[in-house]
Amino acid sequence: MRIGIFGAGYVGLVTGTCFADLGHDVTIRDIVPARVEALRAGRVPIYEPGLKELIAKNAARLTFTTEIADVVRDADVLFVCVGTPPTHSGDADLSAVWTVVDELPQDDRRVVLVMKSTVPVGTGAKVRTALDERGLHNVGYVSNPEFLAEGSALSDFRNPDRVVIGAYEAADGDVVERLHQGIDTVFVRADVASAEMVKLAANAALAVRISFINEIANVCELTGADVNTVALGIGLDHRLGKHFLRAGIGFGGSCFPKDVSALKQLAGNAGYHFQLLASVIEVNELQKRRVIGKLQKHLGTVRDKRVALLGLAFKPNTDDMREAPSLVLSARLLAEGADVRVWDPVVEDLGQLPHGVVVCSSVEEALDGADAAVIVTEWDELKSVASADALARMRTPLIIDGRNLLDPETVRAAGFTYEGVGRAVGPAVSA
Ligand code: UGA
Repeated sequence: MRIGIFGAGYVGLVTGTCFADLGHDVTIRDIVPARVEALRAGRVPIYEPGLKELIAKNAARLTFTTEIADVVRDADVLFVCVGTPPTHSGDADLSAVWTVVDELPQDDRRVVLVMKSTVPVGTGAKVRTALDERGLHNVGYVSNPEFLAEGSALSDFRNPDRVVIGAYEAADGDVVERLHQGIDTVFVRADVASAEMVKLAANAALAVRISFINEIANVCELTGADVNTVALGIGLDHRLGKHFLRAGIGFGGSCFPKDVSALKQLAGNAGYHFQLLASVIEVNELQKRRVIGKLQKHLGTVRDKRVALLGLAFKPNTDDMREAPSLVLSARLLAEGADVRVWDPVVEDLGQLPHGVVVCSSVEEALDGADAAVIVTEWDELKSVASADALARMRTPLIIDGRNLLDPETVRAAGFTYEGVGRAVGPAVSA
């Protein structure tokens, strides 16, 4: 089939490229000319493992453009993959979505408009009304939320747990289902509102799990239990499962913080106070700040202390720093008067970092003279950070492991003071 994609961000590029790989002809449109030029020249403006190679492999079936006419012409299906960032009120900003809808030209051909962008429940109904008011009865509407995680997006596309398709007309849903031929999965056919809610509820449920295990970790610290062992014991219960039980310094990224807040706001706008999500957000904020308390516990004040923040991306295998814990930590530490050094193997766009942070090009450089090292992102490169070389470089050999990446015994045996998240730091407290 011929597919048009609006938006050459993470979702649009991965979706378009993977559909091209399934044999479809794909045209991807972005409004940023530099982005389109880069893609035409074979440069991929985001870091996603395997994407550059897959774009090159499917070059004959992939076209990049800034023109709306190119993307709409002859298309059977149009995917909306534009950003829906949070507004100041916590609602989703749908202006990019509306621009796409408003720009759709009049045509008699049947075309299916598919919403991949994460939108509030009720958006499909509003778009349907807007299309009808413009007389665009030839445009079908389908909600087909994405469940791609950055860093594993290509395999998530090829091996999805499910594909959710919410349509007004069954035939439009059938078209979207047929596009996925070659992918072995379960298709959940739904009404549009339910499909929209599946996306928000799935991300919220995962965020609930993370805040839950982080609170368990905090209680483990006070009671002498070890959260990794607890997570293992919980996760083997088939009703719970082992995923998303890694305690750490809180979730970040372009999705969870935004979608949890959007669902809470959506509920509020509809007259319901979503108390659980309010707590999930609060726990997540506090979890990032607990690192500062741990540093103070070992160093006293952090004023004039040199702290190395290792990892800037919100998780490994991505260059995405949106809502990354590193941003909160660096800002808090600077406010406390610390000398903040940062390192990341991939992140290049450092525009979001607060002024005053020193960016280092190697872990060694970041550790030179440091009073503490904080593992902020669990990059593979950091697994060997507790080396004799690091011990010699650091002024105080303190490691705060925000991701429980290292083995406490080994690190302590190597001469470091070590503190993770929810890991036994002393003898168990008896009741
Ligand atoms: C997430 C979802 O996993 C995708 O299914 C969804 O499609 C995507 O949002 C989206 O809405 O577009 P992503 O944000 O790329 O994907 O990353 P995740 O791997 O889910 O991680 C999110 C955050 O949770 C990260 O900060 C990670 O460090 C944290 N996390 C994850 C934990 O702290 N503990 C865990 O056990 C798992």
